[in-house]
Amino acid sequence: MSNRVQRSSNKWRPAITSIAFLALILTTLVLIFRKSSVKPSSQFNLPRSQWNDLHDSVEFHPTVEFINGTDLTWQVPESPKAVIFIAHGCNGRAANFWDRSPECPNCVGLPEERLIVLQALVRKFAVLTVSSLGRCWSLRKEKDSVRWIIKWWIAKHGLEKLPVVALGASSGGYFVSALAAEMKFNSIVLMIAEGVFDRMPVSEEYPPTLFVHMPKDRDRMNLIGRYMKDLREKGVQVSEVRCLEFPLTPSLLSDRIPGLDESLSVKLFELFREKGFINETGYMRNDGRATHWKQALNERDSSMRKFKLLDHIQEELNLAFGYHEMTSLQSDDIFNWFESHMT
Ligand SMILES: *[C@@H]1O[C@H](CO)[C@@H](O)[C@H](O)[C@H]1NC(C)=O
Ligand SMILES: *[C@@H]1O[C@H](CO)[C@@H](O)[C@H](O)[C@H]1NC(C)=O
Repeated sequence: MSNRVQRSSNKWRPAITSIAFLALILTTLVLIFRKSSVKPSSQFNLPRSQWNDLHDSVEFHPTVEFINGTDLTWQVPESPKAVIFIAHGCNGRAANFWDRSPECPNCVGLPEERLIVLQALVRKFAVLTVSSLGRCWSLRKEKDSVRWIIKWWIAKHGLEKLPVVALGASSGGYFVSALAAEMKFNSIVLMIAEGVFDRMPVSEEYPPTLFVHMPKDRDRMNLIGRYMKDLREKGVQVSEVRCLEFPLTPSLLSDRIPGLDESLSVKLFELFREKGFINETGYMRNDGRATHWKQALNERDSSMRKFKLLDHIQEELNLAFGYHEMTSLQSDDIFNWFESHMT
């Protein structure tokens, strides 16, 4: 009896083995794909799949308001768990953070700004962006008024019980670093900015501070290193995220800029290669601002002079060069920082 069972199970063994083998392969494949869509290498572009996921899970519904001589653009998701104030850099404005839509016909939707806001909304942050009065933020004139605006806006929407965090890039980073000494934030992120820690007293009450910076900008990196040491000695929690350059790919621009199609993205990539703006491995040889790519594009096709996404392209070129630009590639680090300092 047992022999017969033995025999019949022997007969099935090859089949069982190959089924198990197949299952193993499938599981491995699922794991590989799961892994690649959940945890992208943050140094490179967000895979298109994740980018689309963001759009599936959240939509832009901004409201624009004018108050105290400036404009705000904001959105409160359902059941918000925190408030984030975001300060742009020089030449920026609140409208850059939101896609153009009937609700916001003047919105610009710069690629990095919009992805930061989308990630914030996905993580249930109520997002408030404010435009500076001048080209850049004025530490002297605008601190009081922005503090007033943030408080007023939080009260108006009944969000007083929520943690409040702030993110500032470049000029906005200096501004947020100064604002944080005068109003309570649970934590802050200073992007491509060392802050104004040489110009103000800082106590241990100062919020936990994450520096998101680009080490290619050595002077700034050295200052950040110094300020981090000072802040730590004063009992302030600090950390840093370093953002590196990365190579362009033919589809980078269409992957990251809504409204820019893949054939144009490939054409631009080829033009940049032909003109030597990128090297053999696709890295920018210079900052986008210092590269005459708009002129080259205009010479190739003068109708492109009026193309409405030139600023969007420029931002991605600056980002790829990795010297000084707004970046959403480190959004996971940024929002993890905020979320780990909520209480
Ligand atoms: C902003 O404007 C409001 C009235 O709209 C005013 O009550 C408030 O004092 C102003 N705040 C600042 C800081 O100017
Ligand atoms: C292209 O530039 C990158 C970054 O500067 C560099 O690491 C790489 O070696 C360069 N590639 C070539 C082929 O010159």
